[in-house]
Amino acid sequence: RHKSEEQFRLIFELSPMGMAITSTDDSVLKVNQACCDTVGYTAEELGQKKATDIIHPDDLTINLTPNQDLWPGRTSHFQMENRLLSKDGRVIHVLTKKAVLVRDSQGKPRKFFYQIVDITERKQAENQVRASLTEKEVLLKEIHHRVKNNLQIISSLLRLQSRKVEEPQALSLFKDSQHRVQSMALIHQQLYQSPNLAQINFGKYIQTLTNNLFRSYGINPQTIALNIEVTTAPLTIDVAIPCGLIINELVSNSLKYAFPENQEGKMEISLSSDQQGQLILKVSDNGIGLPDNLDFQSTKSLGLSIVRNLTAQLGGNIILDCSQGTRLEIKFPHSLDL
Ligand SMILES: Nc1ncnc2c1ncn2[C@@H]1O[C@H](COP(=O)(O)OP(=O)(O)OP(=O)(O)O)[C@@H](O)[C@H]1O
Ligand SMILES: [Mg+2]
Repeated sequence: RHKSEEQFRLIFELSPMGMAITSTDDSVLKVNQACCDTVGYTAEELGQKKATDIIHPDDLTINLTPNQDLWPGRTSHFQMENRLLSKDGRVIHVLTKKAVLVRDSQGKPRKFFYQIVDITERKQAENQVRASLTEKEVLLKEIHHRVKNNLQIISSLLRLQSRKVEEPQALSLFKDSQHRVQSMALIHQQLYQSPNLAQINFGKYIQTLTNNLFRSYGINPQTIALNIEVTTAPLTIDVAIPCGLIINELVSNSLKYAFPENQEGKMEISLSSDQQGQLILKVSDNGIGLPDNLDFQSTKSLGLSIVRNLTAQLGGNIILDCSQGTRLEIKFPHSLDL
């Protein structure tokens, strides 16, 4: 018996982990050197105190429930993170384990045993990481905002310059360029408005993009009914930008050519994913269809070239269906292998 007490004393004293024994009224009965080092009090000073004197006031109640389980022995010990106050007033974060050391003959606790580890440095490092992450997010948001503003400025410059243009064909070139720039600006706008800054709710994007195009081409939404269906997860910017530009081209074409003389019609845009995880973008109208002499794969006109090039950039392929109006289906992988 004497030998095991001596062994316990040795382990207690020499442990690099803070250890303390308290009575059930929280009086400190015994502490080791590591415990003294952690809080900056001597063993004598701690002997005059109650455990609750050195616990951060806000943390006094956090162990209420596990304590209630400890008393009747429903649990043998519990662990928590809490704060202590050192002698010089510093807040010390610790990991605490508490157990019943001795019970009386009725099984009521007589002494508690605490083990504490100073985790202040880890906590500070965590807080620093969190703070710098927040800072990066703010910066990223700021950058998307500026990119969007700059693209908006380019779009405005094009509009201002186009005022000098009288020839209708040239005017329409200016307008198309504005739309292309705006479809990119919109991506950045959606990005800085999105909660995680990295992904875009593409349904919302397509809605805004097409609203703008309808307005710009002066088309009454009553005349051309538009149905948008997006069932995919949010997209990352490297997929969203080309995808947005493709939609811009195809929708512009439908609005410009598919329904001449204010003819009524329908358009559909959908983005979904198949079982293989490929994304499928479908853009269709039930208008007059592509001209017979137009070879989709080789036409030199800019709009469809853009669609072909961006599809290739996305690593996808295009299926064209002209059986009823114009229907394009583009299949591409969800993420780019760069
Ligand atoms: N949805 C459509 N319905 C009917 N015709 C279409 C449709 N989309 C394209 N076209 C025809 O295909 C041609 C080529 O389209 P494309 O987008 O490549 O060039 P564009 O629209 O004439 O010029 P740009 O897009 O460079 O401003 C158009 O001029 C038009 O005649
Ligand atoms: Mg076009």
